[in-house]
Formats: sequence, structure tokens, C-alpha cells
Amino acid sequence: MGVRGKHIVLGVSGSIAAYKAADLASKLIQAGARVSVIMTQAAREFITPLTFRSITHQPVVTDWWDPASDLSIQHVALAESADAMVVAPATADLLAKLAAGLADDPLCGTALATQAPLLLAPAMDAHMFEHPATQQNLRTLQERGATVVGPERGRLASGLTGTGRLAAAETIMGHLAALLGRQGDLKGYKIVVSAGPTEEPLDPVRHIANRSSGKMGFAIAEAARDRGARVTLVTGPTALPDPPGLRTVHIRTALNLRDRVQEEVRDAHAIIMAAAPADFRPASMAEQKIKKGAEATMVVELVKNPDIIAETRGDFLKIGFAAESEELLKNARTKLVEKGLDLIVANDITAENSGFAVDTNKVFLLEPSGQVTELPLLLKTEVADRILDRVVELLAARGKRPVGV
Ligand SMILES: Cc1cc2nc3c(=O)[nH]c(=O)nc-3n(C[C@H](O)[C@H](O)[C@H](O)COP(=O)(O)O)c2cc1C
Repeated sequence: MGVRGKHIVLGVSGSIAAYKAADLASKLIQAGARVSVIMTQAAREFITPLTFRSITHQPVVTDWWDPASDLSIQHVALAESADAMVVAPATADLLAKLAAGLADDPLCGTALATQAPLLLAPAMDAHMFEHPATQQNLRTLQERGATVVGPERGRLASGLTGTGRLAAAETIMGHLAALLGRQGDLKGYKIVVSAGPTEEPLDPVRHIANRSSGKMGFAIAEAARDRGARVTLVTGPTALPDPPGLRTVHIRTALNLRDRVQEEVRDAHAIIMAAAPADFRPASMAEQKIKKGAEATMVVELVKNPDIIAETRGDFLKIGFAAESEELLKNARTKLVEKGLDLIVANDITAENSGFAVDTNKVFLLEPSGQVTELPLLLKTEVADRILDRVVELLAARGKRPVGV
């Protein structure tokens, strides 16, 4: 999924941010895409074609009048074979040309000729970006179906701070993956995914938390997005950035998580609870920082948190997780039944390279029918897709219809 195996045409125009396109090209290649680069003449003032040629191992198109270039004979060849076209950075000048439908260089010509989705990542001085001409051009391009990513706010080449920075490569890639997956097998379905730990406050500066990194839930949310789903990710505090192309809701405590999940599932087709909410919370939160005092011990009274997934009822698929350190399958089966789940992902946190904080997971999928599927040790991104493969089958088996398809 994502950009793997896809042909991405990367257009680079004459912005000071053109050097960042080399990093984007490299990340696309590392993610398994085939990348063909087209540069404007101005872009070549900032970075050489050799850089892109070395990164992509493909010829770089700079001039379609060059008789040695394949593109001079088949000038729309890249437009036809592209799975998606990305222009990063897109200058104000280039946006104006695209909005006007000009085709006087290979980049504009390819953008005009391609039927593939077009993603534009503008980068320019803040005043150029805010100018009504640029804003109108962006609106025109969006109305015609282009996806615009960024620009972001930050320090600009001029030394001023404003909106005009090229979006980060990861952000562009996230939106690109979502764009490529728009027609995927979860198109028209809303999926709610929870992720990460919760923090249960003791006083204004201390809390009880756990070691959940959020990686598994984030991987599921991103994989669902890349298969065309409308995704809401409800997450506790993690070190991970909000994934592009989906809605992220931040919560802190298990009670927050319950409230937001219950709100979000109303129009959802499936809920996947990969969060690790605390089972207990301090009975009360001290208003001021608790002082050490003279006593050698301290007792904190804990009260039980609600069982969120068991409490959340409605006409949607319920998928839960069981992170266990002993009697994995037995404990997971009990949870499957008690919580009324359609599927439980049993996760042996004592297995090597499995569970919290690592990028891999060793899981079993258990279903009420008694079916048990053992997956090998896989990357969490692969586990995410295997879970979603089953979700797609279960949605179909339940006769759940996608919306607006
Ligand atoms: C040093 C320098 C930096 C520039 N940076 C940008 C920029 O970040 N964004 C932009 O829209 N134009 C920028 N320009 C202006 C473009 O390079 C100019 O409009 C050019 O004609 C764009 O051509 P192209 O759109 O065909 O690549 C810059 C110009 C110079 C001289």
C-alpha cells in the first residue's frame, strides 16, 4: 500500500526550497516508488538534475526540445504512465501557469496532460502566497481536483516568519498515499481508531501512564486512510506527529477517551481500539502538587475506569486488542466474549520484538466463531493491513454498505 510500486512524477520548480525536493525524491524511492523528475529551467538554478538522477536512477526531464530526450518524441509519456503527479516545490509562477492551463514547458505540459491525481506543495515568500492572485490560482486548481498540501508557517528564506515554507516530506507523502488509496477497498467507510496510552493525573504535575507508544494504532489509522477510509484517530499523548490526511483527536485520560470515542462512532462502520487506556485512575486529583512530607510511604486510592469498548454499543464492527504477558489466547478469548467484540488482536508483549515501543508485532486474530489466525512477526504497518484485510471481509459479510460510493 502507500506509494510502493507506484510511478510518481515529481515536478520541481524554481523555489529556494527546490533542494528539499531531493529529500522527498529519496524518501519516495525508499518507500518503494518509481520516481521520474521534471524540472523547470528556474529549478535548475537552485539544484542540478544530476542530484535527482542519482537519487532516482531515472533520466531527469528538463527540456522537451532536446532531441536526445525521450520526452521530445513522446512528450506526454510521463503524463500517461504516472499514478500521481506531485509538484514540490510549486512556485507562485508555476501555480499561475497551471491555473491558466499553460503548457510551455515539460512540467506544465505533463500536469495538463495527465489524468493522474495532482498534488501541489507550494513554497514561496509569505506575501507572494497571500497575494489574491496566488490565492485565486490555488482555489481554481483545487476546484479542478488538485490537492494542495501546505505551505507551512515558519522561518522563510527571507529571514521573516510567515506562511510559505514547503510542507515536510513526510506530510507530502502522507497526503500522497491517501490520494493514491482514494479508490481502495475501504472507500466510503468511516473507521475510528484509538491509540496510545492515557494519563491519569495525581496532581497538577504527576500522572499514572503506561508504555504504549501509539505506533500500532497510528499504523492502523494510516493504513485505513491509504485504503480510502475516512479515519478519525483518537489518541492519548504520544511522541508521534499527527498523520496527514486524517482527523486526529487528542485525549488525555481514559474518561476523555470514552467520551470522544462514543461521539465519533455514531456514524462509523468500525471501531478499532488499539489504545491502552488505564484500567484504574486516582480516586481524586490533588489541586496542588503533593508534598513529600515526613511519612515513609504513601497510599494512592485508585478507582476502576470504564471498559470503553464494552460500553460502546451500536451498529458497527468492534475490534479490540489484548496485550497479555501470560496465557495470551485464553485471556484474549475471555475479552473477546466479555466485551462483545467481532475480532480481537492478541498481542504477546513478552515475545521478542513484539508489543510496546518497537516497530514489529507478533499477534493472533481471534473471532467469536472460534477461528484463530496466527500471524508471523511483522512490521506494525503490515499487521495493520492484515487486520484491515479481515475488517474488509467482515464489513462485507455483515452487509455494511459504504457511504457515497
Ligand atoms: C533566490 C530566489 C529564490 C526564489 N524563491 C522562490 C520561491 O520560494 N517561491 C516562488 O514562488 N518563487 C521564487 N523565486 C522566483 C522564481 O524563481 C521565479 O518566479 C521563476 O520564474 C519561477 O519559474 P518556474 O515556476 O518555471 O520554476 C525565487 C527567485 C530567486 C532569484
